[in-house]
Amino acid sequence: MLGLLSFLCAGVVQSLGCGVDLPVGEPLSLGQLAIHPIDWNASPIEAGRVATIAEGDDEVALFGDTGVSLWTSGDSHGRDSAVRSWRSSAVVPALGFSGRWLLGIDGEGHVQRLRFGPTQSLSLEDVSARYQLQGKPVSEVASIGGALVGFVLDGRLAVSDGKTLKHYELSVRSLVGGRGRAAGLSERGVAIFDAESESLRHVELPDAKGLALAPDGLLWAATADALYRESGNTFEQAYHVESPQQIVALSSSGMGVWVLLSDSLAQIRDGQLLVAPLPGMLSPADGSSPTLRLIGSPSGDAWLLDDTQVLRVGEDSGGGQDLALWRKQMLPVFQRLCQGCHLPSGSAHIDLSTHSSWARYRRVLAKRVVEGLPTPMPPVGSGKLTPEELAALTAWVSR
Ligand code: HEC
Repeated sequence: MLGLLSFLCAGVVQSLGCGVDLPVGEPLSLGQLAIHPIDWNASPIEAGRVATIAEGDDEVALFGDTGVSLWTSGDSHGRDSAVRSWRSSAVVPALGFSGRWLLGIDGEGHVQRLRFGPTQSLSLEDVSARYQLQGKPVSEVASIGGALVGFVLDGRLAVSDGKTLKHYELSVRSLVGGRGRAAGLSERGVAIFDAESESLRHVELPDAKGLALAPDGLLWAATADALYRESGNTFEQAYHVESPQQIVALSSSGMGVWVLLSDSLAQIRDGQLLVAPLPGMLSPADGSSPTLRLIGSPSGDAWLLDDTQVLRVGEDSGGGQDLALWRKQMLPVFQRLCQGCHLPSGSAHIDLSTHSSWARYRRVLAKRVVEGLPTPMPPVGSGKLTPEELAALTAWVSR
């Protein structure tokens, strides 16, 4: 069941490869971006060389050559060192119950799920068979949206809906997914799978080296010297980089698409390319440090990795900074005045022990804690916030 199969050789035919010259669209305008390192974790990272990162609502899992390390709202939740070689990871819908799984593809191609809970320490469970992938080495995984999860098997796309696994004649690597689509780089360009119509499409883009799916659902691709934006059935050039500057990598985040350049980090957002210098603690991405890598975060932040360091950077308005402020200012309030009732199995039956729960209740927190309406939190007789705590909370809930 391959559905509609169409291969397009798009654009005006000219010199390159099979002869492709993609149209030039509205160029991105240049702007500046202020980013800084985000102080998101309580314990130091000893993850070695990190291959991939998966982020849930509150969880950050680093998969590296010392094993998998997990943090929840920035607190260490342990490490499992049983597997030390990783290829890919993703956050996907759990099989058999609501919620989400953090999956990692290990060096042998097994699909490993991270098992953990409030009182359960981190361990791995091989769930290859749950996806009908036993004995089939997987190289990549990506969430496609809804119940669909995409895997790359022997270089080709396979899609699981949690019950059956379908194989497609689509050769891909660097798999990305979301909003019902999966895409990857192929021999000669970008291959795109649409789940609803089950259609496969191919856009020629010789020498494409990066691919990302923006939060608005558009695909972006990069060669060493240009950025391309999806436009209908093809890609159009949106930015050209002057040498010696080069594009090193692309990765999507919750705010836009991050672009790692040889001497800077930039974000594509609202028709702009917002550029920031690379943080000083990292060596430039040119020949002297070919190992610098980029992973976008759903929070909007970016992870920059080299062989020994993991650095999270973001804007003041970003999700990582929100977590950092929460850890610094709100977590102590929670521990002093709220956790008596608001732990996961607490008497209030409302878990407020995580950053994401506070973020979800931002407005309600303003009402209950700041205005005391309809009744105050903490309840009368259960303690009070100091004026400083109240000021910090007022500022945090209005972020
Ligand atoms: C003595 C127990 C107790 C303490 C301490 C307490 N709460 Fe509550 N909280 C409750 C109960 C019970 C409810 C549910 C009933 C209600 O909404 O009043 C609740 C409800 C809430 C809600 C509303 C959730 C909703 O869905 O509307 C918020 C927000 C909240 N608490 C925040 C806090 C914060 C922040 C603190 C600490 C600064 C705190 N609470 C301390 C018992 C407590």
